Amino acid sequence: MLKIGMVGCGTIATLIVKAVKSGKINPKIVALYDKNRHKSEELGKLTNAEVCNSVDELVTKDLDIVIECASVKAVDETVSKALRNGKNVIVMSVGAFADKNLFLKLYNLAKENNRKIYIPSGAIAGIDAIKASSLGTIEEVILTTTKPVEGLKDALKNLGMDACTISKPTTVFEGDVFEAIKEFPQNINVSVVLSLASKIPAKVKIIADPSAVSNKHEIMVKGSIGIIKTTVENKPCNDNPKTSALAAYSVIRVIKDLSEPVRIGT
Ligand SMILES: NC(=O)c1ccc[n+]([C@@H]2O[C@H](COP(=O)([O-])OP(=O)(O)OC[C@H]3O[C@@H](n4cnc5c(N)ncnc54)[C@H](O)[C@@H]3O)[C@@H](O)[C@H]2O)c1
Repeated sequence: MLKIGMVGCGTIATLIVKAVKSGKINPKIVALYDKNRHKSEELGKLTNAEVCNSVDELVTKDLDIVIECASVKAVDETVSKALRNGKNVIVMSVGAFADKNLFLKLYNLAKENNRKIYIPSGAIAGIDAIKASSLGTIEEVILTTTKPVEGLKDALKNLGMDACTISKPTTVFEGDVFEAIKEFPQNINVSVVLSLASKIPAKVKIIADPSAVSNKHEIMVKGSIGIIKTTVENKPCNDNPKTSALAAYSVIRVIKDLSEPVRIGT
């Protein structure tokens, strides 16, 4: 049985715990850590997992894998310490890997320690085909993300924009993946997954739509294999409109695949 530790006890961690409790997946959740102790204690009540006081404490437990589902800022510490303690890692806050130096550092650390870093496909479709097509030549990768204004509110506020004044679909960002993740760190993890899979920095457009009820991600990839186009209209999680239900399912699926004898897709 796969033994799991989780750093970050918010929306995604809660959905992972619910998937275990409902029998969708059958790992053992051994340890939890959240910088907000109340969150880890609340989630601890749903499992028999030990509530830890730090990442250092969590990574010394008897675990097969550590799941980072906290924040971009938590990635370096969590992944480095987990790998150094011989644990595999799943990273959800993949926006952290817009920092190429951090990605390279953790890639090399995983190699040195003979461990793996898993990056779920998140809230987008087509990563399997994009990964395969990257073995040919990819010329262009475009991501257009349309979200309800509510889900972009915090990022817009940080940029000095008042979300309340948006009364029609409005392009609030156009640029490359590196700029996108700086300005919308909690909203645009998918652009980094896309860029890592295609090995091409994605061009990103973000639209705030006051009438939208889903987080929509449209992808266009052009390359030597032809053209890939995908669209997903994601339902936001009830507890956190920034996070799509599919993103949580993608990590739950990775956990399931780790215990299955057959793996489907690239
Ligand atoms: N890869 C994807 O497609 C994708 C999709 C959705 C969300 N995400 C990312 O996954 C992460 C978790 O998402 P969520 O919806 O569960 O968020 P959430 O806000 O509901 O929960 C995050 C939890 O992590 C805790 N936390 C934050 N920083 C921490 C730190 N440094 N150490 C320990 N705990 C910390 C918070 O207190 C909170 O309880 C976020 O970074 C989010 O951007 C990725």
